[in-house]
Amino acid sequence: MRRIFVLNGPNLNLLGTREPGIYGTLSLADIEERLTARAGDRAEIVFRQSNHEGELVTWIQEAGAENAGVMLNAGAYTHTSVALRDAIAGAKAETIEIHLSNTHAREPFRHRSYISAVCRGVIAGFGPLSYELALEALLAPEPEAQA
Ligand code: DQA
Repeated sequence: MRRIFVLNGPNLNLLGTREPGIYGTLSLADIEERLTARAGDRAEIVFRQSNHEGELVTWIQEAGAENAGVMLNAGAYTHTSVALRDAIAGAKAETIEIHLSNTHAREPFRHRSYISAVCRGVIAGFGPLSYELALEALLAPEPEAQA
């Protein structure tokens, strides 16, 4: 069964009470439960959160080493972290960048992502559904090569 690392960055441990007008009222544990239920026996979900950039780097490397997929909500590190970008590029784990909010509809400093260019794709703005859409993207069969 494919292993998928769902990695959550800083302040996402506060979901549920953190700026609910932007991030909603579900906790991170609620999101994990929904995602695990949706994955069913299609994938093994490894769900983690850290407020520390280096720990996220280590987990991306771990996922790469075991050829797992990665869904990464890097939180504010999205907009600052060369280290996360290098980890994704170096670890070669297929990675999807996710955000609960539509970062492009928010403050200008959230419009730039350091990690998008090394990710397979980006899903943002759908609240907890962003996680589920990314799961479906990772599990979808590769499209046929174009002739
Ligand atoms: C976020 C968006 C980021 O800009 C912000 O710093 C977060 C959460 C999101 O999921 O919408 O912490 O990644």
